[in-house]
Amino acid sequence: MKRVVCPGSFDPITFGHLDIIERASKLFDEVVIAVLVNKTKTTTFTVAERIEMIEESTKMFSNVKVDSWSGLLVDYCKANEINAIVKGLRAVTDFDYELQMSQINLQLQGIETLFMSTAPSHSFLSSSIVKEVASHGGDVSSYLPKPVVERLHTRLELLAAQAVNKK
Ligand code: PNS
Repeated sequence: MKRVVCPGSFDPITFGHLDIIERASKLFDEVVIAVLVNKTKTTTFTVAERIEMIEESTKMFSNVKVDSWSGLLVDYCKANEINAIVKGLRAVTDFDYELQMSQINLQLQGIETLFMSTAPSHSFLSSSIVKEVASHGGDVSSYLPKPVVERLHTRLELLAAQAVNKK
């Protein structure tokens, strides 16, 4: 079985991620979306919330599953018999860091990285920029899967209220 991992923070999943996942699901028998558990990083959503949103957003793809991991991605790949990583490249600014990671992942455990060019309509999209727009009341429904839009507004309102209460 040809399996590939699509790793990331997915805080939250956007249409940019979904485009890469859908295209990868047509090339591989199974796509594993792996959500990084990074205890040192502050995130908008918990890992469980991010997994739930990804599962709801990808339920139409029968060969996509969702998991989480902590530590080195290549160790997760080895433990789960995955030989390749798929990543979306939005612009040349993504390239330096992605190239470096792909090379170290190849050297560490022989794991290949395949880069897919992001659809031009999504090339400016990132979870951070969408959160920025939403935090100022902008409409983000064309950037996020439906199960995510409402949750993001609710979470940002909660975080804003908490910030006011702290003052
Ligand atoms: O969505 P992101 O935050 O850009 O995803 C980056 C991610 C999680 C794919 C990358 O940071 C990663 O693979 N981290 C796990 C640790 C690791 O294996 N690093 C690469 C070799 S040092």
